[in-house]
Amino acid sequence: MSAILLTGKEVADAMFKQLTPLVKKLDPKLVIVQVGDDPASASYIKQKLKSCEAVGMRHEHMHLDATVTKEELLSVIEKLNGEPDVTGFIVQLPLPKHLQEFVPQIIRAIEPKKDVDGFTAYNIGKTLLSKEFEHLPPATPSGIIAMLEFYKLGKVEGKHVVIVNHSNVVGKPLAVMLLNRNATVTVCHAHTKDLAAQTKQADILISAVGKAKLITADMVKKGAIVIDVGISRSGDKLTGDVDFDAVKEIASAISPVPGGVGPLTVASLIRNTVRAKQRQIE
Ligand code: GUN
Repeated sequence: MSAILLTGKEVADAMFKQLTPLVKKLDPKLVIVQVGDDPASASYIKQKLKSCEAVGMRHEHMHLDATVTKEELLSVIEKLNGEPDVTGFIVQLPLPKHLQEFVPQIIRAIEPKKDVDGFTAYNIGKTLLSKEFEHLPPATPSGIIAMLEFYKLGKVEGKHVVIVNHSNVVGKPLAVMLLNRNATVTVCHAHTKDLAAQTKQADILISAVGKAKLITADMVKKGAIVIDVGISRSGDKLTGDVDFDAVKEIASAISPVPGGVGPLTVASLIRNTVRAKQRQIE
């Protein structure tokens, strides 16, 4: 293998080391709201709770029944908004089918100061303004930026970054955060006509689709940095978007799945909770 392996754990451990004394000093509390029993969500939440414990952060897991109504969920959010001891909270997505059409309304109900997922229009809007205004940016893009910075792979400034994903949670805010750092950014998605023609241009290729082997070796420029944020599950096995074995021979650096960006998303969530507390006591 010629590529450097970008393991998120190393970066996450460095972030946790920085965060632990701040957690001790500020004593923030994170609440995770789960609705129903989506198995992927259960596994992400487990990781989040485990990391809270590792840094000594107070945390609560509110597990609501899958049949909860929109009104009941909104009332839980209202309570959390008004509870002074709760620094920040997240509503784990995806929600059960009957609530999915209300996700924008549910996110809108979250008090931006407690929105440690960075999903509300206020926090997304601030992220759009400039690097200095990225107070509570979304966790996955933040984790990807942390990974690029940690491994000293060279500045993203002037690099051509191709992102395959245009969701509100990953692709769009990531594009903005990379623009804040003066990268040239192309965002691809399901309607992109010739995906390979775009990905082949990338100095840094970031894929977050959830389709195994979407990114094959012939779609990657020699020496590119490849970050895999996709997750597909078959049984207990997790697979990324990138044909890892073939692409590692072409890329200069590559992140694996699992053990790549995942731990950094969690570390970024904890960092946002610390930042929220800092702002609340200012
Ligand atoms: N589902 C998958 N990733 C995330 C995340 O970062 N936050 C929330 N709330 N739900 C998710």
